[in-house]
Amino acid sequence: AILSRKGSQLVKHHRLEKERTKGMKKHWELAGTKIGNILGIKAKEDPKDKGVDEDGSTDYKSDQQFSQHIQKSSEAVSAFAKSRTLKQQRQFLPIFAVRDELLRVIRDNNVIIIVGETGSGKTTQLTQYMHEDGYSKSGIIGCTQPRRVAAMSVAKRVSEEMNVKLGEEVGYSIRFEDVTSKSTFIKYMTDGILLRESLGEPDLDQYSVIIMDEAHERSLNTDVLFGLLRDVVSHRYDLKLIVTSATMDADKFAKFFGNVPVFNIPGRTFPVDIMYTQNPCEDYVDSAAKQCLQIHLTPSQGDILIFMPGQEEIETTCDVIAERLADLEDAPPLAILPIYSQLPSDLQAKIFEKAPDGVRKCVVATNIAETSLTVDGIMFVIDSAYCKLKVFNPRIGMDALQVFPVSQANANQRSGRAGRTGAGQCFRLYTEMAYKNEMLKSTVPEIQRTNLANIVLLLKSLGIQDLLQFHFMDPPPQDNILNSMYQLWILGALDNTGALTDVGRQMVEFPLDPALSKMLIVSVDMKCSAEVLIIVSMLSVPSIFFRPKGKEEESDMVREKFQVPESDHLTMLYVYQQWKLNNYSTHWCNEHYIHIKAMRKVREVRSQLKDIMDQQRLPVISTGTEWDIVRKCICSAYFHQAARLKGIGEYVNCRTGMPCHLHPTSGLYGMGFTPDYIVYHELVMTTKEYMQCVTAVDGLWLAELGPVFYTVKSSSSTRGGTKQAVKAKLNQMESELAAASQKLKSMKDEA
Ligand code: CDP
Ligand code: MG
Repeated sequence: AILSRKGSQLVKHHRLEKERTKGMKKHWELAGTKIGNILGIKAKEDPKDKGVDEDGSTDYKSDQQFSQHIQKSSEAVSAFAKSRTLKQQRQFLPIFAVRDELLRVIRDNNVIIIVGETGSGKTTQLTQYMHEDGYSKSGIIGCTQPRRVAAMSVAKRVSEEMNVKLGEEVGYSIRFEDVTSKSTFIKYMTDGILLRESLGEPDLDQYSVIIMDEAHERSLNTDVLFGLLRDVVSHRYDLKLIVTSATMDADKFAKFFGNVPVFNIPGRTFPVDIMYTQNPCEDYVDSAAKQCLQIHLTPSQGDILIFMPGQEEIETTCDVIAERLADLEDAPPLAILPIYSQLPSDLQAKIFEKAPDGVRKCVVATNIAETSLTVDGIMFVIDSAYCKLKVFNPRIGMDALQVFPVSQANANQRSGRAGRTGAGQCFRLYTEMAYKNEMLKSTVPEIQRTNLANIVLLLKSLGIQDLLQFHFMDPPPQDNILNSMYQLWILGALDNTGALTDVGRQMVEFPLDPALSKMLIVSVDMKCSAEVLIIVSMLSVPSIFFRPKGKEEESDMVREKFQVPESDHLTMLYVYQQWKLNNYSTHWCNEHYIHIKAMRKVREVRSQLKDIMDQQRLPVISTGTEWDIVRKCICSAYFHQAARLKGIGEYVNCRTGMPCHLHPTSGLYGMGFTPDYIVYHELVMTTKEYMQCVTAVDGLWLAELGPVFYTVKSSSSTRGGTKQAVKAKLNQMESELAAASQKLKSMKDEA
């Protein structure tokens, strides 16, 4: 769990959670304003009808409605529950009914758009159909997914359907994990992987078919691929490009590729009854848990799917349901299964497993289960109304993951999940008013709301000089492009004319965020690349610590032993080094409440990044125990994400003056040690801005390494002076901060 190490912190964190759900009401308004701003839409007025029941419970418009449906659902489940062979399952899918016609249209057209309800078989069947129709003879059949989890799980499923070993004929490739071989002809991959491949091979010659799946999701990488592939198909007549979408707004895609045909897969869906709460819900974790138990305790069949915004909420929901269930006597068994992208893959696979007879499944998911993954047997959906989106935040000049209300389109996808195998029910934990008046029609595409630094770097290295001219389906706001270019310029990846520098070219080689690749490259000059390589690898995998139930204190204590007081980055380094000293032992990990799988992944990522360093002739040099150098190196790539102490335990962003807080998971949190200056890896926004993964830095390093932001006048002696002298310099530096950022602003305007 993301929850903090110490008991007291835990309590505090729960309070934060509470505070956050309360803050949600405000979020409706906020999010509307923010997204609206991007779109140039005015925010709606906050409706004043917000009262909440005394006990916070959710009531539905009619109880009768409820029981009727339970009955209908049960009948449908029993009709469907007969198990089928994989072949029968394939033939039962809606796409099978139109297989031949579909293949005919594809033969006659190089680009087609396919629209079909989620679960109709697009992702798992199209690749196989194309193979069966002979396309694998002339190249690989590639299928892109916006999500890693989907790429992995679908590849596994298809290898089972084809009765081959995963990684042989059917494989997948996601960042840092390539499970393909020479014999692979059906390849699932994230859209990011295909985008990277186009760097080395702009025409994607090894593919005979590219299926761009989940196009409705409008992920950043998919959107960029659209622009690139539009060019590729204009001169590669042997390539079939198939774009699939779960929603009807496919006409836009069709137009973009030059009025190509749209093929509809007739759906087979059952009615879903939608229930709203009468009043806005105060605490959606609590309400969802209540609703879940209410369904579970009625004599009905069918599994439950709960949508939550993110990992933290999912884990809390699972805990709450389990706790309340344990308090009940004679409650029927319930298999509570979380799913989110950072969950270890063996646990992810559990949601697809059939529960033992008589055991109901309750899947608690992020929006990953909206369209990318289909779990059979869902009859009930509980929708919290929220999701997490990466959004460029102009206040901090960078992306932050934020909780937002979903759009109407998302809400409808979510409810649709209940009607796949029979009539279902969807419990929306919001009012009908909120749905109609406060939700956006559809989500703003990622390209219009996130930082584009990575994409800019990639396109620049593809030789696309003028990004404002690139053919985007929905062009990003010009400010976004300029902001991203500005960030790359700060990192030294672009020169004053906006062209790629040598450092920039080197940065493109690493499948990492620009700041991380910069840190790795700089570490070579600073002679600490061995250490930084480990830190970067550790930052590339989900959390390594675990906190088992009933052993919270014990695991917290072990974890504290690893803590390097001034740096979360160094803590990671220390853990890895200790693991290595213990011969990468599994036992050692278990003993210390560390995920062995995560650590193995770190080791693998490290080795892959080291390969790239070798290719780039970047030597791996160890600084030994001189860890101050490592901190300085971190500072050299993250100086733009610095904060200064202001008052007790309070920080403000050095550039913007915005207050920000240490995340409870940081080793610096609540430790009494509060350095004057810190840099952070990531900002997480809930009701407050939290800095995650933090390292103490010397204020003078900021001036030295980030001269565009911070300057120190008359630097005759840097550290030799008295404390007072240093303080005076820092004061000076701060007073110049404002002037510097003003100057930069005008530079940016000129750019
Ligand atoms: O892509 P689309 O939403 O149209 O459907 P799909 O993902 O191809 O799913 C077709 C069927 O395969 C569904 O009934 C899924 O339940 C099943 N499937 C599965 O059992 N395990 C997976 N990992 C993926 C799909
Ligand atoms: Mg799909």
